[in-house]
Amino acid sequence: MPIISEIAARAATLTEIRRDIHAHPELAFEEMRTADLVASLMERWGIEVHRGIGQTGVVGVISKGKSGRVIGLRADMDALPIEEANRFSHRSRHPGCMHACGHDGHTTMLLGAAEYLAEHRNFDGTVVLVFQPAEEGRGGAAAMIADGFFERFPVDAIFGMHNWPGMPVGRFGITPGPVMASADRFDILIKGHGGHAAMPHLTIDPIVAGAALVSALQTIAARSIDPLDGAVVSVTQFHAGEAYNAIPGQALLQGTTRALRPAVREATWARMQQICDGIAAAQGVSIELKRFEGYPPTINTVTEAELCRAVAGELVGVEQVDWALRPSMGAEDFSHFLEHRPGCYVWIGNGPGEGGCTLHNQHYDFNDDNLVLGASYWVRLVEKLLAVG
Ligand code: NI
Repeated sequence: MPIISEIAARAATLTEIRRDIHAHPELAFEEMRTADLVASLMERWGIEVHRGIGQTGVVGVISKGKSGRVIGLRADMDALPIEEANRFSHRSRHPGCMHACGHDGHTTMLLGAAEYLAEHRNFDGTVVLVFQPAEEGRGGAAAMIADGFFERFPVDAIFGMHNWPGMPVGRFGITPGPVMASADRFDILIKGHGGHAAMPHLTIDPIVAGAALVSALQTIAARSIDPLDGAVVSVTQFHAGEAYNAIPGQALLQGTTRALRPAVREATWARMQQICDGIAAAQGVSIELKRFEGYPPTINTVTEAELCRAVAGELVGVEQVDWALRPSMGAEDFSHFLEHRPGCYVWIGNGPGEGGCTLHNQHYDFNDDNLVLGASYWVRLVEKLLAVG
């Protein structure tokens, strides 16, 4: 099953839309222009449109037939606070803001599918087109869910797609089970007793305690978690002291933890607390651990992953579909949708990019060669899940 020729015939228009979004990037929960563009195009195509879900989120609904089955397809719309270094004509017009994660392409691929689905309606059921805001760390998916997404649009399953640099164009990567990690942040405040650096016996040194803590935290991934379960504890900031000759009264450590399964995520936090308590007792300092919960792990359900694999395989050939790839320790807030419903989040190859640059690089650009393929994938997925008869 090749790409859909009617979508291929619109490649130039889709490229124009994608480059227009790229040139006008908007940060999390500020996607006003993008949301307007998405909503007005869908209205023009006769799609029922709901605006303002999770602040700037937009949802389109296309129904046909009487099966009662409902599936969700999700794209994210937000850009990053990065100054674009590209010089091509569709570079960002907004200083300090760019589409460095390809969400401009995600939005356009779903629009390409939306137009085709609205026109042909070659399915039996309801398609919910989810254009979510604020994927980049601000929790747009959770905002949509808090705004009643699942009550208003009761999808049976939900699907996502992310462009993946380094993977050749024309390839898909589909992984049953965990595909992206959880991401939490932490603050650890160590309080001791400051004093003269020449008389350390009269102080309680939070820097020595902090140094011991940084080392001890490394034993969580190395010695407490099963080596086959991914976990990361990274201390990324260590703030303490101001003078050459004074031991400070306190130190602040900050960082991030990652895990691929909820049980590992919780075990990591339990060990962090034990280690903080132990170092505090051993060194006579007080240690306060604060957790800031971020995104949960993104865990694809096996049945839905296999469905996506079949659809992608029919589009590009089974040899072009990588199955059960190593997960990424990066995070993704599509995970919030998957906490409520079965579904699958796939990677679509974006090619090498300029100089092999990665996501969130200031030279990043979504590959327009993907627009037709990605839109075709969405349509074929709908036609398979909501097959007529
Ligand atoms: Ni992204």
